[in-house]
Amino acid sequence: MINPIVAGNWKMNKTPSEGKIFSEKMVEKLGSKSSVDVIVCPPFTGLSSLVISTKFHLGAQNCHFEDSGAFTGEISTSMLLNCNVEYVILGHSERRSIFHEKNNDIGKKVSKVLSDGMKPILCVGETIDELNKGLAKQTVRRQLKLGLNDVNSLNNIIIAYEPVWAIGTGLTASVEKVSEIHSFIRTTLKDLSSESESNNVPIIYGGSVNSGNADELINAHAVNGFLIGGASLDVDKFVEIINIVDKI
Ligand code: PGA
Repeated sequence: MINPIVAGNWKMNKTPSEGKIFSEKMVEKLGSKSSVDVIVCPPFTGLSSLVISTKFHLGAQNCHFEDSGAFTGEISTSMLLNCNVEYVILGHSERRSIFHEKNNDIGKKVSKVLSDGMKPILCVGETIDELNKGLAKQTVRRQLKLGLNDVNSLNNIIIAYEPVWAIGTGLTASVEKVSEIHSFIRTTLKDLSSESESNNVPIIYGGSVNSGNADELINAHAVNGFLIGGASLDVDKFVEIINIVDKI
């Protein structure tokens, strides 16, 4: 049984004080008995300003794989742990395309995050070009294989399927497409590890999820939750999606 997950990726939005106000409102609005693992991923500067509550977990949007040193502009896992971070988004398509992150480095980050006791949310997904050329599965398989190359177990790993063409565009993959790729991811994980381990990995969907399409998408086969960008910035919309996922 996989606990459903709803993770909010704020990207480069919200100052520490805006984040604090959001978290206070969210905690007020969330019921006390939710079955959903809620994760909020503010920018690094906001990690220490959110209210502490058992109703949500703290996530970061990236980290470096080295312990410390001359890496201007980077952030280490021990710095994140010191801010009570439990999850780290890795290999987001914006990191891959804008900041040129490569699968091999993403793999090192996944392994570092795991070995330091946090949970990586490894993002995979095809571009519109790859989709049109019929290469979606090939891309996803390669990203999974290389992203998980340095780990010996799938325990504590979360996979986010985020088709690049659906991120921030208002386009969502169809329920059939999401089901097909999520099932493909599960099979690929089995090939890379074992059936029992792969069956326990949460596979969440991201790409223009909102309160209008969440119901349909959460009922798609093999979808264990969402990674949400735009709609996670508005506390009412975010809580609405959490409540939809909570009902399943
Ligand atoms: P979106 O972003 O919900 O705004 O499409 C999703 C993501 O980038 O994680």
